[in-house]
Amino acid sequence: MKMVVAVIKTFKLDAVKDAILKAGIHGMTVKEVMGFGQQKGHIESYRGSSYEVRFIPKVKIEVAVPDERLREIVDLIQKTTRTGELGDGKIFIYPLEEAIRIRTGEKGEDAI
Ligand SMILES: Nc1ncnc2c1ncn2[C@@H]1O[C@H](COP(=O)(O)OP(=O)(O)OP(=O)(O)O)[C@@H](O)[C@H]1O
Ligand SMILES: [Mg+2]
Repeated sequence: MKMVVAVIKTFKLDAVKDAILKAGIHGMTVKEVMGFGQQKGHIESYRGSSYEVRFIPKVKIEVAVPDERLREIVDLIQKTTRTGELGDGKIFIYPLEEAIRIRTGEKGEDAI
């Protein structure tokens, strides 16, 4: 299993949620975060205006996926969130050692 973590533009959250659900993935975690990328506090367009900013609000999503669906889901996230503008975000992929559904005790891919 892999944990796919994506930092994305806030307005893309609903589109990603819909795409993930449509792909038959049964859960995700979402956090509001602040961050910066390559432009390091230089001007980035945000909601149509330009601000001199240090940190920009983003949304971080975490989705646990079986290994055999990794590429498909990563491609889906990228395709859904890309605008081609600065600040589209990043996708990070971690090995996921174990998952446990607390209610049933199911483990591994059965738990995600
Ligand atoms: N190296 C990094 N480590 C951790 N988080 C990062 C890193 N780079 C970017 N992020 C997170 O992703 C968000 C979006 O980054 P962003 O898309 O601006 O990256 P970038 O490298 O500047 O690409 P672009 O040139 O397309 O803007 C940042 O606000 C930050 O939260
Ligand atoms: Mg950037």
